[in-house]
Amino acid sequence: PTVTFVSIDGSRHTADARVGESVMAAAVRNGVPGIIGECGGNASCATCHVYVGEDFMPLVGPPGDLEDDMLDLAVSDRRPTSRLSCQISVTDALNGLAVETPKEQP
Ligand code: FES
Repeated sequence: PTVTFVSIDGSRHTADARVGESVMAAAVRNGVPGIIGECGGNASCATCHVYVGEDFMPLVGPPGDLEDDMLDLAVSDRRPTSRLSCQISVTDALNGLAVETPKEQP
């Protein structure tokens, strides 16, 4: 499945993601700018914050409790579509997923 990352300046990076890895891992493996993943995917750093494309929100779903608390600490503004990309698991159903990377990660 592919995941496209759109940065604040409009530049797009499409990553070939593997089913079962996280969206954060796919970004880091593909050298996508704007996703840091400092904690390695433990929902404890919020440097993998993304805004999920509206169309995909029903498939991706809301954050879990721990993630929800971390999103409040993210450097860039939280939105209703905010998720930590390390907590989104890539599936075939998410092929074509588009996420926006925030203005700033810590
Ligand atoms: Fe640290 Fe996602 S990689 S919260």
